[in-house]
Amino acid sequence: MVAETNLDISDLIFPLFLKEGMGIKEEIGSMPGIYRYSIDKLVQEVEQCLNLGLGTFALFPCINDSLKDQTASEALKPQGLYPRAIQTLKSTVPEAILLTDVAMDPYSSDGHDGLVIDGEIRNDESLEILAKMAVVQAQAGSDIIGPSDMMDGRVGVIREALDKQGFQNVSIMSYTAKYASVFYGPFRDALSSAPKHGDKKTYQMDPRNRREAIIEAELDIEEGADYLMVKPALAYLDVISQISSEFELPVAAYNVSGEYSMIKAAHQKGWLDGPQAMIESLTSIKRAGADLILSYFAREYAELLKS
Ligand code: PBG
Repeated sequence: MVAETNLDISDLIFPLFLKEGMGIKEEIGSMPGIYRYSIDKLVQEVEQCLNLGLGTFALFPCINDSLKDQTASEALKPQGLYPRAIQTLKSTVPEAILLTDVAMDPYSSDGHDGLVIDGEIRNDESLEILAKMAVVQAQAGSDIIGPSDMMDGRVGVIREALDKQGFQNVSIMSYTAKYASVFYGPFRDALSSAPKHGDKKTYQMDPRNRREAIIEAELDIEEGADYLMVKPALAYLDVISQISSEFELPVAAYNVSGEYSMIKAAHQKGWLDGPQAMIESLTSIKRAGADLILSYFAREYAELLKS
């Protein structure tokens, strides 16, 4: 009766990985219990999750290395893996809400989120590609565009491109305060998308900075974001707390791959109780002020509540 924080299934967004093929469900080595699915298996997974009460899914494509190039050209093909997956889900399970990812890294031979020229990430030259990616995803049926690239100005450019093409009703969940974090390691395994050279510190945020997150949020709001996101979650609860108290937009937090895998590994070793650690971490993210949580634990949490 006096508990201040309640974690509902409807607060959770479940990230899912997909790959080309048929009948594929393969476990990701560094993320026990998390899989890459071919489109047919992805549909089954989403159906099961809907039955458990989950409603929103963040999709990430694992692209064959042979299709990657410097300009991420595969990302702009309407018949590519990602748009096909979005279309298939929207026609078979239309009630599933899809949050789709805009960033070049899954498609880039450089493994960076923006365009690399002469060893430098070029912010402004990346914007046009990112806006085109967003339109391709909206045409396929995306409900929410999630720019995870951290280029400056991309929310505004994406909003304008979507509106011009008639997608005023597609919303934008901006990765607002996305830090250059070591906790993304297992995700980069899942997509085999690690940078081929350098790191992401010229565009992702410095973990030492909090006020900078406020600037990022102000810019995103001005540019037309509908949701603000803080990422990772657990090492950045102070940032979640501040963003949610200073701004009125819904705040999402991304409980990232490394945060998931640490708990899974400790549980497998018998060093702590995994399900309890899951509940405590998710609750702390909600308590800090997140309205929504993207988490690889979403399905497990929903199953636990059901049982
Ligand atoms: C890249 C992207 C990353 C994640 C989501 N989108 C990794 C990165 O920036 O290198 C990480 C998610 C996770 O670790 O769970 N656009």
